Amino acid sequence: MRSWREELYDGGLRRFEASIATLQLVDVARRRLADALGVPGGTLPMVHRRWSAEALYAALEPARGALAGWQAIRSWSAAWLVGLGERVEDWVMDPPRLRVIAPGAGALPAAAPAYFAHRDTWYANPRCQLNVWMPLFEVGPNDGFRVYLDAFGQPVANDSSRFNWASWRLGGWQAPGPPLRPYPRLLGPEPAGHHVDVSGESAFFMVFSAAHLHRTLPRPPEAAHSRISIDFRLVHRGDHRAGRGAPDPDNQSQGDTSALYQPLTG
Ligand SMILES: [Fe+2]
Repeated sequence: MRSWREELYDGGLRRFEASIATLQLVDVARRRLADALGVPGGTLPMVHRRWSAEALYAALEPARGALAGWQAIRSWSAAWLVGLGERVEDWVMDPPRLRVIAPGAGALPAAAPAYFAHRDTWYANPRCQLNVWMPLFEVGPNDGFRVYLDAFGQPVANDSSRFNWASWRLGGWQAPGPPLRPYPRLLGPEPAGHHVDVSGESAFFMVFSAAHLHRTLPRPPEAAHSRISIDFRLVHRGDHRAGRGAPDPDNQSQGDTSALYQPLTG
């Protein structure tokens, strides 16, 4: 019988409905975000009305930093993995990320990479990596992210050969002039075949392979709410060492970002 990890390496998507633990986590995350922005928690999905897109990005910086170092997500992840029969010490994770997808932001050139269809493996993420995504508020049918199921394990045209992890870490933002970091993406049209648009109530979460082709769906300018979510990445160290993981047929990036991932405890 395949393990839950192997099912995900084979392209399965796992959806976990909201629990007391995830509702508590989301509640604390909302309060922290609201405190960082100085707004009432209930108004967070309308936060784009208070700032321009550029100003909102800057205003979110303290919240992003706080979330990245937030031990509560590590503790919650550890408890969840134990519940699946895992040993916590076998796992590492990257700093959790906060995503606020504001209506109309998809039209901003600077924000364009956030909407590229991509595999995380094109960014030198290991093929045994599992992505965890959890919305802080309800996500409508067209408001979440899309996973191109039939592109799993199938090569598609992309420019991941431009991505070198060592260069990415050293260059880019500090260099004079506009940022030069490459953001690998799907080249050509959206793949045909089946896809899934992830949506639902707050505090559920999705787990999927980093080798799945996926993209954030832009919020139309007339939308009332921003989409607010948290996500992070998990790697089983034993699987990584053994070379296990998802098929990764078209990745030409170089490096291994998981070298910097941290244990869930300590
Ligand atoms: Fe991604």
